[in-house]
Amino acid sequence: MPTNEERLGRLARMRAEAMLGGGPVRIERQHSWGKLTARERLDLLLDPGSFVELDAFVTHRSTEFGIGEQRFLGDGVITGHGAIDGRLVFVFSQDFTVFGGSLSEAYAEKICKVMDLAMKVGAPVIGLNDSGGARIQEGVASLGGYADIFLRNVLASGVVPQISVIMGPCAGGAVYSPAMTDFTIMVERTSYMFVTGPNVVKAVTHEEVDSEALGGATVHTTKSGVAHLAAHDEAEALDAVRRILAHLPQNNLEAPALVPASDPIDRMDPDLDGVVPDDPHKPYDMHDVISRIVDDRDFLEIQPDWAANIIIGFARLGGRSVGIIAQQPANLAGALDIDASTKAARFVRTCDCFNVPILTLVDVPGFLPGVGQEHGGIIKHGAKLLYAYCEATVPKVTVITRKAYGGAYDVMSSKHVRGDMNFAWPTAEIAVMGAEGAVNIIFKDAIASADDPAAERKRLVAEYEEEFANPYIAASRGYVDDVIRPSETRPRLIRAFEMLKDKRDTNPRKKHGNIPL
Ligand code: HXC
Repeated sequence: MPTNEERLGRLARMRAEAMLGGGPVRIERQHSWGKLTARERLDLLLDPGSFVELDAFVTHRSTEFGIGEQRFLGDGVITGHGAIDGRLVFVFSQDFTVFGGSLSEAYAEKICKVMDLAMKVGAPVIGLNDSGGARIQEGVASLGGYADIFLRNVLASGVVPQISVIMGPCAGGAVYSPAMTDFTIMVERTSYMFVTGPNVVKAVTHEEVDSEALGGATVHTTKSGVAHLAAHDEAEALDAVRRILAHLPQNNLEAPALVPASDPIDRMDPDLDGVVPDDPHKPYDMHDVISRIVDDRDFLEIQPDWAANIIIGFARLGGRSVGIIAQQPANLAGALDIDASTKAARFVRTCDCFNVPILTLVDVPGFLPGVGQEHGGIIKHGAKLLYAYCEATVPKVTVITRKAYGGAYDVMSSKHVRGDMNFAWPTAEIAVMGAEGAVNIIFKDAIASADDPAAERKRLVAEYEEEFANPYIAASRGYVDDVIRPSETRPRLIRAFEMLKDKRDTNPRKKHGNIPL
């Protein structure tokens, strides 16, 4: 019989072995690519000393292709729980030094275990992905393991926040786990995501493309919209996780944390009174408006480089987290196109499921016209945003800064779709369409028969602008609750969200709605 000391020694040796992952040579290789190891990443992500590891002694059960001889404690994924800013989180960190981080049946079970625990106790799950995909030697057992994770991603969706960081390869069906989480962050140059890699693409479509150009961080944060943020390096990516989590509650039954605000809640910004140009065709930067309104000018923009005609992100107002959706007049005049609608719809739903109040800043000339947009299904995609706003029950406060034309007026958190507080600046123009378009339609005959058609059109446009290009018709009907000076926007918003903090609203009971996909 071994002595107690020998037993303790064995435990210590096994722990030390588990720490080594695939061994020093492979760790050195990982470092040579500019990548940290799975454990180093957890050290950066979590509060110091907070990590509690589970299943460090798990090994795979496969004997195929000679793999039985190769067993690494932990089997290529490090799982457990820890804290971020003192709040409980569950984590898994894929270890590329063990079988290329590829997923075995046992490895999938480890991930499922932390996901199940996270659901039971109501805490976020963060996955650090760096993997060659399904462990080839395990075949269908590995595919089954992936599906077990996918199912949990879906069951946890809208219950606990899920964040994925892509820190290496993520290929094949493996991409669908991150795709179903709330936020995906990619590291530039060292991470990629694709359903089929460059070799398969070449064989099938004869396109020559490398991994970076096919599915690197730049592609997914500028072209596809698959990822939410690109980070210059791994530390920045992990910091982004912490920043996002700061705006989210632990689960769908809680509210985001209220933090003490150092920025005065009654701070006015006189420069806002002049931010909208006199010429309605001139753009301005909505980022400027956002940063002047929110606490400490601190805005965490999500998907900044994709569909830049709409801005989404988190900020605080009087210490209270809000999700902001805002048109960007400086890009496509702030028109709603397919990508902008999809981007904003997802964000509205993300905020709603995690009880983050929504601030909408509106300057929208309408949906983007064009054959490409129509054939691409702008009707269906625009409907996603309308649907998302209609179903959202969190506090919704809206400010129309300038244009709110046509269907886009309805969509953008109008009173009619349960906007709780709707403000307009004096520069607001709320109408079915802009003056030029309206006059060309309703006064077509009068203009054609006038002695001087151009002068007549000019006169009618001016008349229309005078009468309709303002917020007062909407205000007279109560569609906007107040017309406010731009400079007083911050204090008015803080008071509105404070008033709405205990808002309760529900939708009819149903299995689930049928959002147009
Ligand atoms: C088992 C794997 C592996 C895998 C890599 N390795 N991928 N072992 N199953 N899927 C092992 C290698 O044998 C090697 O072991 C180590 O990991 C590192 O791999 P290298 O090839 O040396 O590294 P590198 O040159 O950087 O290339 C990394 C890679 C490449 C691009 C990920 O390994 C690769 O293409 N792997 C296969 C990827 C793939 O096709 N996976 C299946 C995708 S389909 P040693 O012992 O030398 O360290 C899929 C389906 C999911 O995942 C389905 C969900 C429904």
